[in-house]
Amino acid sequence: MVLYVISLVSIIIATIMLYQRWWRSNIPPGPKPRFLIGNLHQMKPHWTHSFIEWSKTYGPIISVWMGTQLIVVVSSSDLARQVLRDKDHQLSNRQRIARMTQSGNDLVWSDYSPHYVKLRKLCTLELFSLKSIENFRSLREMEVRSMVESILKDLMIDSSNDQTRKPLVVRKYVAKVVLNTISRLMIGKEFESEEGKEFKSIVEKEHLLSGSGTFFDHVWWLKWLSSWFISDKEFLAHKERRTKWFRGAIMEEEDVAVEDHNGFVRNLLVLKEKKELSEETVHGLIWNMLTAGSDTTAVVIEWAMAEMIKCPDVQEKAQQELDSVVGSERLMSESDIPKLHYLQCVVKEALRLHPSTPLMLPHKASETVWLGGYKVPKGATVYVHVKEIGRDPVNWRDPEEFRPERFLQEETDVKGRDFRVLPFGSGRRVCPAAQLSMNLMALVMGNLLQCFSWSSPVPGERIDMSENPGLLCSMKTPVQALASPRAATRVIPYNL
Ligand code: HEM
Repeated sequence: MVLYVISLVSIIIATIMLYQRWWRSNIPPGPKPRFLIGNLHQMKPHWTHSFIEWSKTYGPIISVWMGTQLIVVVSSSDLARQVLRDKDHQLSNRQRIARMTQSGNDLVWSDYSPHYVKLRKLCTLELFSLKSIENFRSLREMEVRSMVESILKDLMIDSSNDQTRKPLVVRKYVAKVVLNTISRLMIGKEFESEEGKEFKSIVEKEHLLSGSGTFFDHVWWLKWLSSWFISDKEFLAHKERRTKWFRGAIMEEEDVAVEDHNGFVRNLLVLKEKKELSEETVHGLIWNMLTAGSDTTAVVIEWAMAEMIKCPDVQEKAQQELDSVVGSERLMSESDIPKLHYLQCVVKEALRLHPSTPLMLPHKASETVWLGGYKVPKGATVYVHVKEIGRDPVNWRDPEEFRPERFLQEETDVKGRDFRVLPFGSGRRVCPAAQLSMNLMALVMGNLLQCFSWSSPVPGERIDMSENPGLLCSMKTPVQALASPRAATRVIPYNL
């Protein structure tokens, strides 16, 4: 009997080992992993820095082991094309990393399935089609005007208190205008100041609890260990807090008649009443749009402003264009964008150098596929390193320089058709809001430049261009700048 058990156990172990060996054969090259921890001990806080180093040694497709989870990172246009176009069908699932998104009932973290297709269609029709982008144009222009007003107000308060000019924290205005625009689009109103603060605080807490963007995301046994410290009680309390915020800020009161809600939320509630969408999906979709939309757009604008404070020539060129196309008798509007070629190039250049999500979002192989001659086994996570692709010297001259002119010379699509610059991804999971956010970025930047000249508070001082680690690439030190009002601000009444 003992002999029988020993041989059975040996056969099982041998089969597992053979399967593992087969599973790992022909996978892309990469740093040698250690037992159980994989390459965790070698990872820098900025994963992208480690990926760049390893790509120099092993090539544009590498394997990295996060504990026992295989991650494949590709960093060339050719391989990006294979992932996002040729093998899109097998690589469109999501690796669900954060704890709040485990069910995958929302849009961002859902696998590619009939449920996903239904949600994507709904969001595209309601929010991102050209018709609905056009319908909400005046709303974006109103928000941007109130951003200009609030900058002017702060400058006036400042100059009445003190003769020395104080620098402004650019992020404060940019983050507010983007969040307000998206919340007006979703629910037909801006958040009250307290609601906005609570939203930010919930998002931050969620990052902490889920460990999103950290090792916990990828390593099952670390996740399991972390659940000892982050108790279910804390997790449930957080969920309750989020639901309470939803009721207060979005649904107002659950019993308000559906007709009294506005925009996208109203349509979601109708579908919920018809039992076509669950409450979890409705909350998930609204949360997706608020979180995926606000920070991503705001960080690119902040990077662009920092680049233009660093390169005053670019700033002046954009202002000259605004002066000649729009003038100073009115504020720039979205209908001016097609004529503002240089401004459009500034937006593209900011997206090339500083894509908000340098690794996009994690894709997952639903079947074993071959990429660049290597095997990517079913279940592996796949990242496309879009930031590195946008800086690849094979594709770009002086890739580290902020030079919007490069896009004047050659018409380049940045919404997923040109694999040299992929800030929004490409293929089935491409960002559905690419056009909306391009319009919003051009409108916000255009108004900031038409109404003010921006300069460093200490002339000649280097701007800190370092990044925060994580899935979202924001500036580590919020950029501060002196804003000098230009002629166009005269259209804003001074009795603000
Ligand atoms: C500069 C602004 C933005 C950038 C750079 C950006 C970039 C991205 C990227 C790289 C992805 C993942 C693509 C992939 O994994 O293949 C994505 C997905 C997504 N984005 Fe954006 N995004 C931006 C703005 C927005 C806005 C304003 C919204 C909504 C209001 C939004 C909603 C979404 C959603 C819902 C997804 C998930 C799509 C899916 O999984 O099918 N994004 N975005």
